[in-house]
Amino acid sequence: MSIKEHPILKAARGEKTPYTPIWIMRQAGRYSERYRKIRKKAGSFMDLCKNPKLAAEVTLIPIEEIGVDAAILFSDILVPVEKMGIGVKFVEGKGPILEPKVESVDDVKKLKVPEPERDLPYVLETIELIKERLTDRPLIGFSGAPFTLASYILEGGSSKNYIAAKSTMWNEPKLWESLMDKLAQTVTEYLSAQIRAGVDLVQIFDSWMGVLSKEDYEKYAFPYTQRIVNELKKRHPETPIIHFGVNAQHLLEVNNRLNVDVIGLDWKIEIPEALAKIDKSIQGNLDPVALFTDEKLIESKVRKILEEGLKAKGHIFNLGHGILPPTDPKKAKYLVDTVHRISRELRS
Ligand code: CP3
Repeated sequence: MSIKEHPILKAARGEKTPYTPIWIMRQAGRYSERYRKIRKKAGSFMDLCKNPKLAAEVTLIPIEEIGVDAAILFSDILVPVEKMGIGVKFVEGKGPILEPKVESVDDVKKLKVPEPERDLPYVLETIELIKERLTDRPLIGFSGAPFTLASYILEGGSSKNYIAAKSTMWNEPKLWESLMDKLAQTVTEYLSAQIRAGVDLVQIFDSWMGVLSKEDYEKYAFPYTQRIVNELKKRHPETPIIHFGVNAQHLLEVNNRLNVDVIGLDWKIEIPEALAKIDKSIQGNLDPVALFTDEKLIESKVRKILEEGLKAKGHIFNLGHGILPPTDPKKAKYLVDTVHRISRELRS
C-alpha cells in the first residue's frame, strides 16, 4: 500500500476509511519509560532534539509501544526559534526560557529567518532516518504558528495572561508586524523543508490562539497563518495540513477559511457544534484526563466521539491536547485499540 492511501491521509483528504485512524499529541513523551531513559542518556531536552539518531528512535517508540497510526517528528516548536537568534532553555518544572527578550523593532531586525538545510540540518536528518525505518505509516511534521511562537518570544517563556504579547500587538504595530512577518517566513521555509525531507503531512500548532478575541485573532494572527498555508499549498499541494489550537471554539468559523485540510479540536468543543461551523475534516478530541479513568468509561467516551466523527468529512482521532506525563502507557494502548475496534464496527 502506498503511504498516500493510509487511512490518516485519506481521512485528512475526506475519503472513506475502514477505521478511524489515531495518533496522540506528545505521544513520544515523558509518560513512556523508554522515552525517559533515552532522554537521560541524551542530556538536555534540546540536546535530544538535535541528536538525529536518538530523536528518530524516540519518534518510533509510540508506534511500537501503543500502536498509533502515525509517527510525529520528535522535536519542539521552539527548535527553529533558537536559530532565529534567541536562546532557548528548558528548565525543569519551569518550562521553556527564551532570552534575550525581543523589545524593539531593532531587536526584530537582528532576528534571522533560518535556512533549514544550513541551520537546522539535524531536524531534516532525523526525518530521513525515520523515513528509512518507518515504511508502513505516515510521518507527521510540525511547526508552531506565528502567534504562538511570538507569544513565547515576547513573554520570554510560557505565560498566563499574555501581557507582553498582547500589549505589543496593540501598542507597537511596527514591532508586531515585523516579528510576525519574520515568523511567517520562518515557518513557511521550515515546513517546506520538512516536506522535502519526507514528512507526509504537517500540523501547525497555534496552541494559544484561543487567548485572543475573534476580532484580534482575525486582525493580528490569522493573516500570517493564512499566508503560510497558502504558500505551502502552492509548493506542496498534495501534503495535508492540520491546524490546531486549544480553547479556540470562538475561532472555528475564521479558521474554516484557512486552506487547511483538518481542524484540530480540543475536548471543550462538542463535535456536532464544531461541524455546524466547519466543513473540513476534524481531529480530536478526547480529554487527556479521560485516560485516568477505567476502561469502561474510556470506551463510552471514545464511542461517542467516534459516532459523532462519522458525520465529519473525515476524522482523525486524537486527544484534545497532549498526553499528560503521569498517564499509564497501558491506558494509551487501550485507547488506540479501542478506537480501532469500535470504529471498524461503526464504519463497516
Ligand atoms: O507530539 C509529539 O510527541 C512530538 C513532539 C513535540 C513536543 N513538543 C515534545 C516535547 C511537539 C509537537 C511539541 C509541540 C510544542 N512544544 C507545543 C505545541 C503543542 C502544545 O502543547 O500545545 C508547545 C506549546 C511547546 C512548547 C513546550 N515544549 C513547552 C511549554 C514544554 C514544557 C512542558 C513541560 O511539561 O515541561 C516543552 C517540552 C517538551 N516538548 C517535552 C516534550 C516531550 C518535555 C521535555 C522533557 O522534559 O522531556
